[in-house]
Amino acid sequence: MSTYPSIDDIDFADLYRRHMAAVRRPKSAEEWDVRAEAMTLPPADTGYTAEFVRRMNLSGCDTLLDVGCGLGNIALAVAPKLSQVYGLDYSPRMLARFAQHAREQGASGAHAILRSWDDDWHDVPVCDIVVASRSTAVMDMADALRKLHAKARKRVYLTSVVNGQPGDASRPAWPDYIYILNILHAMGIHARVDYMAGATSFSAQWAFIAWDVL
Ligand SMILES: C[S@@+](CC[C@H](N)C(=O)[O-])C[C@H]1O[C@@H](n2cnc3c(N)ncnc32)[C@H](O)[C@@H]1O
Repeated sequence: MSTYPSIDDIDFADLYRRHMAAVRRPKSAEEWDVRAEAMTLPPADTGYTAEFVRRMNLSGCDTLLDVGCGLGNIALAVAPKLSQVYGLDYSPRMLARFAQHAREQGASGAHAILRSWDDDWHDVPVCDIVVASRSTAVMDMADALRKLHAKARKRVYLTSVVNGQPGDASRPAWPDYIYILNILHAMGIHARVDYMAGATSFSAQWAFIAWDVL
């Protein structure tokens, strides 16, 4: 505690954990398995995927880890430009669909990793780029951000909701991207932020958060 009022007195990691615990039950892998069957991989050259990819800097990079990869929207969009892409997800059905799309597009350097945010990541490969696209609905954000940072050799990119207001305004809002910037700041990481338009069921905008690993 400083002798004067300071933002440093706020433990954003703890605030996030308490906010999330109050408003959110994490979806199970089985629930995502069910959703995987109904999802389709959208074209990479339009919409959200194109907006995400055009903000990435792939120069000097060969490998990418896509955390919460789902069908592989981001990993498979950039796979032709890289030698290895790893899709990590805790839903076996999502990973099966990711592997199937990789085969269909001839992405021989695509690999699936069945793992949760909460698991031990000691054998998850360190990659030049680590992304987490629309996949950071975790209960412990500080732990998740430390994992992303530890697995990145060069750059990290993630998206998080702006104004985590659900469609039903009577329900409390989810913690939004501003927690992430503040938790990173407390870790000594000064991330860049940009905003992507794109309707979702609960938010009109995504914050695109990026930092370099020095
Ligand atoms: C909204 S989808 C996003 C998929 C993809 N990244 C995209 O942008 O289209 C969220 C993904 O995160 C995965 N996921 C959710 N919680 C997870 C956890 N605790 N560990 C690993 N993956 C998780 C889900 O299985 C799902 O594939």
